[in-house]
Amino acid sequence: MRIHISLLPGITAVLLGSVSSLLLAASVLTQPVQQAEQAALFPSTDMIELGRTVAGTACANCHGMDGMKSGEGQPYLAGQRAVYLYRVLLAYHEGDREDDSMQKVSRFLNDEAMLSVAAYYASLTPARKADTTAQGQEPGVLGDDPFSGIRQAIGKCVKCHGETGNSTASGMSNLTGQDPEYFVTSMHAYIDGSRKHRLMKKFAGALDEPTIRQMGVFYAVQEPAGTQTQGDGDVETGRQLAAECGVCHGADGNAGGSITPTLAGQDARYFVKAMKAYKGSKREHDAMLKAVEGLSEQDFVNLATFYAVQKPVQRNVRTPLKTSQWIARCERCHGANGNSTDPRFPMLAGQNEDYLRTVMQAYLNETRTRTVMHAMTEPLSTADVERIVTYYAAQDPKSVVYIELPCQETVEE
Ligand code: HEC
Ligand code: HEC
Ligand code: HEC
Ligand code: HEC
Repeated sequence: MRIHISLLPGITAVLLGSVSSLLLAASVLTQPVQQAEQAALFPSTDMIELGRTVAGTACANCHGMDGMKSGEGQPYLAGQRAVYLYRVLLAYHEGDREDDSMQKVSRFLNDEAMLSVAAYYASLTPARKADTTAQGQEPGVLGDDPFSGIRQAIGKCVKCHGETGNSTASGMSNLTGQDPEYFVTSMHAYIDGSRKHRLMKKFAGALDEPTIRQMGVFYAVQEPAGTQTQGDGDVETGRQLAAECGVCHGADGNAGGSITPTLAGQDARYFVKAMKAYKGSKREHDAMLKAVEGLSEQDFVNLATFYAVQKPVQRNVRTPLKTSQWIARCERCHGANGNSTDPRFPMLAGQNEDYLRTVMQAYLNETRTRTVMHAMTEPLSTADVERIVTYYAAQDPKSVVYIELPCQETVEE
């Protein structure tokens, strides 16, 4: 199969080898291929020879003449897309992409040297390295569960909060129906002691920040089941008292604000305990201290009984994508299986696994700046990154040749 993509009027990419599917969307975020860059896309023999000389003098020490030297964090360059290589060299040259060794070497290269060395490495056939951990695996095989990284941690909460955060034990709070932000605030409050509960301090304290954040999302996307522990107060009296609370917690106890908890379907015993804690200032919170000021213990019971029979509604939180869904997004720019057909976007297929891992982290932390990749990596969990990296490192890299066509039309076949 041959796939033609129009990049500039008249330029077409032909991917060598068979591809199962290809989603095309030329990004509006990135510059079209400039006239000068076409020299690297359609290099002459002289230009490749010049590129080979540049590579031999300035690059081979680290990248090898074959562009396949690994170690010390450098990427494979063989078969990498020409315009991408050139632009990245320019970015190091101008200080837009930071890396000590690359900034040092690129400082002394002129435009012609950068174009020709880009053309040289792009013209090499990428070899498949056998140093990946998951040769040829599909993302599904790598584990498509977006919560796989935190399943073990959640296992520790099941005894009291249920499999999905719908508690079955009396006196235990339901964790469903809450905003992830409220979950995080609660966990922090146990850790810093502004909420006093020895067991929860121990459980929360054992978790790192990314795990706490992902757990908040996990519970928020579960279907809330309501409570099995009804109160023994009076629903109607509770409803009247609750009129005061609706501003913040919603008329039916389904709160809108991210750090205001939903009360609908909350365990009645837990509810009363929470109200008492606010009143006795064991749980520190100004707004809630004011709200409980004039209320008696019987009021707490009636309020708890009213809220327990309200139906909790799941918050509007997006379920994290599966690895396969992420990869479908990456394909828009990086091509099927990471074999980009647009010379501006890097090929990811068969790239060095350690390099990919480091780079994804660099986009996430914004140590690699000024690129569209920060937004792409921001929603990814550590486990997502790991699965994506393993997947791309294990794909077969394929080179691309670009062909100039006489017509000006977009050609797709
Ligand atoms: C001293 C070792 C060293 C030398 C010499 C060197 N590189 Fe690199 N190169 C690296 C390292 C390390 C990285 C990874 C940097 C990063 O993460 O941004 C890199 C990254 C690159 C990248 C980015 C690739 C990508 O996929 O984004 C390109 C392109 C590149 N080098 C080309 C060259 C060329 C061309 C030369 C010769 C002119 C050269 N390098 C010389 C070490 C070196
Ligand atoms: C041994 C039983 C037990 C285990 C195990 C347990 N919890 Fe709790 N959890 C409780 C109790 C009891 C409370 C109410 C504490 C209070 O009064 O503040 C609570 C409260 C909470 C709250 C506050 C809920 C709210 O509405 O503000 C969160 C969040 C929470 N737990 C999360 C977790 C997570 C996550 C785990 C697993 C890492 C976990 N808990 C494990 C018993 C447990
Ligand atoms: C000004 C806004 C506001 C008002 C009014 C208010 N609350 Fe709250 N309430 C909050 C916030 C914010 C929290 C979370 C506090 C925290 O993190 O401990 C909260 C927490 C709670 C909790 C603990 C829930 C849990 O899962 O641990 C209960 C129970 C509660 N409120 C009941 C009520 C009742 C009953 C009223 C009316 C009498 C009321 N609140 C009025 C803002 C308000
Ligand atoms: C809108 C287009 C677009 C999408 C979608 C996209 N990328 Fe990128 N990606 C780019 C561009 C442009 C670069 C080069 C950025 C730079 O200059 O550092 C890049 C660079 C990369 C690199 C560095 C390659 C190297 O050799 O240094 C990796 C790894 C990467 N992307 C992975 C991904 C993954 C994984 C996804 C999906 C989660 C994704 N990208 C989605 C456009 C995109």
